[in-house]
Amino acid sequence: MGGALRGRPPRRDRRPGRVDGPGGLNARARAARRGPPPARGGCEAPGAAGVVRAPPPPAADEAVDAGGRALLPGFVDSHAHLVFAGDRTAEFNARMSGRAYGAGGIRTTVAATRAASDAELNANLTRYLAEMLRQGTTTVEVKSGYGLSTADEARSLRIAAGHTEETTYLGAHVVAPEYADDPAGYVELVTGEMLAACAPYARWVDVFCERGAFDGDQARAVLTAGLAQGLQPRVHANQLGHGPGVQLAVELGAASADHCTHLTDADVAALAGSTTVATLLPGAEFSTRAPYPDARRLLDAGAAVALSTDCNPGSSFTSSMPFCVAVAVREMGMTPDEAVHAATAGGALALRRTDVGRIAPGARADLHLLDAPSHVHLAYRPGVPLTAAVWQGGVRRL
Ligand code: NIG
Ligand code: FE
Repeated sequence: MGGALRGRPPRRDRRPGRVDGPGGLNARARAARRGPPPARGGCEAPGAAGVVRAPPPPAADEAVDAGGRALLPGFVDSHAHLVFAGDRTAEFNARMSGRAYGAGGIRTTVAATRAASDAELNANLTRYLAEMLRQGTTTVEVKSGYGLSTADEARSLRIAAGHTEETTYLGAHVVAPEYADDPAGYVELVTGEMLAACAPYARWVDVFCERGAFDGDQARAVLTAGLAQGLQPRVHANQLGHGPGVQLAVELGAASADHCTHLTDADVAALAGSTTVATLLPGAEFSTRAPYPDARRLLDAGAAVALSTDCNPGSSFTSSMPFCVAVAVREMGMTPDEAVHAATAGGALALRRTDVGRIAPGARADLHLLDAPSHVHLAYRPGVPLTAAVWQGGVRRL
């Protein structure tokens, strides 16, 4: 995959309207190569009757007969932890026998990641990105957070930056084992030397604001330090219980508050009145046997919602956006239209991108052809591999 996940420079924007129909084009679909096609024709001036005609379709370099199958924008997975080594099969197994999930398990992966070579970490990342591509994902955000030392966080981000522009500094995942008795000292490291070493490779700064990880004051210190270095905030918020994460995300204008599993009415209202996207991660609730977030409540309040995998070896070892769509529809009160929108345009919004997550003239030709007549089949046929073809930037990848 290499640099193929790279997109155009991201741009900031507010919440856009709905994507151009989650079903996208079907029947005879056109894939435009090499970005925006040359303009041909345009919007006609209102005639005598005041009618504005839709512009003719733009010229394309390639025409593909989709044979009546559904064409979607590539999925935008805006939350993934893919730089790690090892796995946590035993922890998952114990959980399925009744043990609770806790933030502490992260340290198991930290030990394995520190012990791995750059080549091993890069090979793992490449493998998970390839898995994602095979399931229709064309844009992926990748976090650090399993290094927790200056050198290991910086190399995690350097490796991630070789694959995607959407890199997130998560030195504040949990307190590093060396600082178990000195959390304040660890926050000082994360906001000082470690941040300086990581900022050149990162676009975003994130913090796990949760009991057992970082409290509201510590999270604020991490995010404001990142902002001062030009990194934009996003927050792991309200995953395991109520807490200050969502309010802090909104207050700081974070692009997204992620998890949002335990929300008060005030949290929901704050999200609805903000530009912060509620990014829901059903793989985490599935794999930790926890109650799912209530997407319906957020949508009905007017909040913007994204769906992502949270792919990581501890709480959600899935790379599958179709799986997340199916669970969101079955368990979280979303319609298939809403879930597919959240997994494409919603993810783009959570990354403040306007060039991905939609099919439109001028957007990247990141396209996902289903072996199905409708996007509804992603929820209707759970667990079935429905990806027939994938294009990134107009280049056929699958
Ligand atoms: O998003 N919540 C914090 N971080 C990850 C879990 C990481 C782990 O357990 O290794 C998450 O679920
Ligand atoms: Fe996460």
